[in-house]
Amino acid sequence: MKQRILKIVCIGAGYVGGPTMAVIADRCPDISVTVIDLNAARIAAWNSDALPVYEPGLAEIVRRTRGRNLRFISQTEGAAAIAQADAVFISVNTPTKTQGEGAGKASDLSYVESCARYIAEHATGPTIVIEKSTMPVRAADTIKRILSSGKNGGSFHVLSNPEFLAEGTAIRDLEKPDRVLIGGENPTAIEALAAVYRHWVPEAAILRTGLWSAELSKLAANAFLAQRVSSINAISALCEATEADVDEVAGVCGADTRIGPKFLKASIGFGGSCFKKDLLSLIYLCEFYQLSGPAAYWQGVLDINEWQKRRIAAMAAEHAKLGGGVVAILGLAFKKNTNDFRESPAIDICNQLLASGVRLRLQDERVDAKDFAAHIVDQRKVGVEFFADVAPAADGADALLILTEWDCYATIDWPALFSSCGKNPAIFDGRAIIDRRAAISAGFKVYSVGKG
Ligand code: UDX
Ligand code: UDX
Repeated sequence: MKQRILKIVCIGAGYVGGPTMAVIADRCPDISVTVIDLNAARIAAWNSDALPVYEPGLAEIVRRTRGRNLRFISQTEGAAAIAQADAVFISVNTPTKTQGEGAGKASDLSYVESCARYIAEHATGPTIVIEKSTMPVRAADTIKRILSSGKNGGSFHVLSNPEFLAEGTAIRDLEKPDRVLIGGENPTAIEALAAVYRHWVPEAAILRTGLWSAELSKLAANAFLAQRVSSINAISALCEATEADVDEVAGVCGADTRIGPKFLKASIGFGGSCFKKDLLSLIYLCEFYQLSGPAAYWQGVLDINEWQKRRIAAMAAEHAKLGGGVVAILGLAFKKNTNDFRESPAIDICNQLLASGVRLRLQDERVDAKDFAAHIVDQRKVGVEFFADVAPAADGADALLILTEWDCYATIDWPALFSSCGKNPAIFDGRAIIDRRAAISAGFKVYSVGKG
């Protein structure tokens, strides 16, 4: 077992693998980092000026590390890098299974398994294999089984080192993490990985646990965060019914240090590639171990999220249909400061609006609206138009529906926009970010989530 990690390979150049490896390369000039991916177009983009992932601060880091101790290569060229690696991170996607045992809930580990086979095939020396992707509990068993069938003489230790970065703040989260978690069985392997993070993370923030606790902690942490969003969203509906103000209620609750102020912003519901997938994975695990009560509890968190999206879409559709039936959607990304729209609430909301006969005008700061529209399942091409800017998107609209909290929407000049909108325009502020008074005095009807 090597005591020091000097050569790292990461399989998977996505939203997690790319930024994480860029920061490791930046903070550890003595370590060489190779990121490989099956998707050659994605690798080409990482090697260009138009990176495939938008994150504030990422481009600068890639610019100073790429060609120094960071490189991106396609998986077909990756065998030699794996053969020389001291540590291999697996950072490929673990989507919800669509068929077979556990379909619709359990995580699909087939990409992880094929990575393990690839490592087993090409590794030559002692190699630490690190789960970076979110995995169901005991996934490391499967990885170990595959690795032990390798014929090239490699010997392996498996660690779980889940990533807690949030998109939009990935670089800040990686550079100043609340904690780094390393789960494993072999102390030498655990300490070798800890030494990588110690280049910039204080020792006190590096937590060590058993393998199964690390795997479960990641699922639990995401479930707790999602549960907070569902809790405040459940309260938001009650605020609207009682004329309370959800931001005031959140402020008061959050001032209690036992509760804390973060993750209490009411919204149209959470989105993103993780929360739903990881909740479903947790629910599946509960059911697998015949824990029906806990399964139902976590299912409730998902159910409120779906309900919140449905009720806000229904309100916007109802208003738009009083006029010309046109809704401008402002914001397609699942949150601000990212170009990611995986599981964005905008997808379900747009689908529901289209199904109710409304026409859509789509706009976002970073997401390509056409690319997004290709992912609307119930797409009726006639009913969807795309815009790069807010003003043309709002032109003639009966309802403006804000779905992403982009800063530019908070500062829209409402009087300037009013005259170009439909006859009796309304704003549905699904993130409660606009200046309500300014919008109301400009002539708009205003609904803000959680505001009475
Ligand atoms: C990550 C995690 O790994 C996932 O478990 C977590 O829950 C969500 O975030 P992310 O980086 O967001 O995934 O996924 P994505 O942007 O889809 O990137 C995964 C990359 O892995 C893709 O570029 C894909 O081409 C690549 N891949 C996938 C491989 O290189 N090999 C494979 O066998 C499968
Ligand atoms: C999440 C976790 O935060 C991160 O630790 C984990 O590694 C991956 O999953 P991410 O999905 O990138 O990160 O973003 P996050 O900031 O958690 O937001 C998730 C969703 O919840 C977004 O749609 C966001 O808009 C929504 N949200 C978040 C709210 O509606 N209200 C809040 O107060 C916070």
